[in-house]
Amino acid sequence: MTLQEEILRRKEERDAVLLAHNYQRPEVQDLADYVGDSLYLSRKAMESDRSVIVFAGVRFMAETAKILNPKRTVLLPDLKAGCGLADSITAEQLRAWKKEHPGAVVVAYINTSADVKAEADVCCTSSNAVKIVEQVPPDREILFLPDMFLGEFVRKRTGRAMHLWVGDCPVHAKLRPEDLERARTEHPGAPVIAHPECGCATQAMSTVDRVLSTDGMVRFAEETRAPEVLVATEVGILHRMEKLNPSTRFTPIDAGAICPYMKEITLEDIRDSLALDQYRIEVPEETARKARVALERMVAA
Ligand code: 13P
Ligand code: SF4
Repeated sequence: MTLQEEILRRKEERDAVLLAHNYQRPEVQDLADYVGDSLYLSRKAMESDRSVIVFAGVRFMAETAKILNPKRTVLLPDLKAGCGLADSITAEQLRAWKKEHPGAVVVAYINTSADVKAEADVCCTSSNAVKIVEQVPPDREILFLPDMFLGEFVRKRTGRAMHLWVGDCPVHAKLRPEDLERARTEHPGAPVIAHPECGCATQAMSTVDRVLSTDGMVRFAEETRAPEVLVATEVGILHRMEKLNPSTRFTPIDAGAICPYMKEITLEDIRDSLALDQYRIEVPEETARKARVALERMVAA
């Protein structure tokens, strides 16, 4: 029996669903029941009626699944699958920031710990951040955290004054406007699509054709008729793009843009996770209750 067949068998036995983020290893994506961005996977986790949710993603995604669907067992196959961006703010730091701005509305990106979400009024993902901020009454101050590049992008798009937490994603922040300029010169005429966590997307917005969530980028890739597209995000996404549209060439702006956290999860980890019931993600009840309010507003938006 192949490893893939063993996983499918164990998945069946445990009545499990396998969710995978767009940055996961190709072989993990190929085996998953659903592959997508943070918002899509949050919705899939929330709606799931399976006993077990195996999350091939990173810890904040598995925590979100547990908060939105607390009756299910949620497994993260490797506990080293964290997120450098989520680590850039703690609940204590957020409480101190809130004290400096009493009455402000706290908008927390989904890339945060459950403790931080519990201190937020509403969560957002890269695909609905603009919409969420637009829904905040105009007379209210906004604290946006923790990604300053996404925050700056939303600020430009909405025209809303917002206080931004100075956090960034170690993978996306490395992509600079100069990288984009170079790629544009080397590949004239190729459209550029970028994730809003990229430094280059906000600082050189006029040179980017579309700023999109990972699923937004995949949809663009599927529909484009361009012979080549330049892609500014983590390279794991190229697998889906190439599968969905084999006639376009997808060129990464930086082939070294690899998220080490996303790559922690292997097929062996997934097999072991189902066989050994590891690693169960739990969120303390009070934290989950508060975080759920912010997450349900995100999912409903
Ligand atoms: P998406 O919600 O666009 O998939 O982004 C998640 C993420 O971690 C990007 O680094
Ligand atoms: Fe976190 Fe960046 Fe990895 Fe996304 S790419 S999971 S934001 S470290």
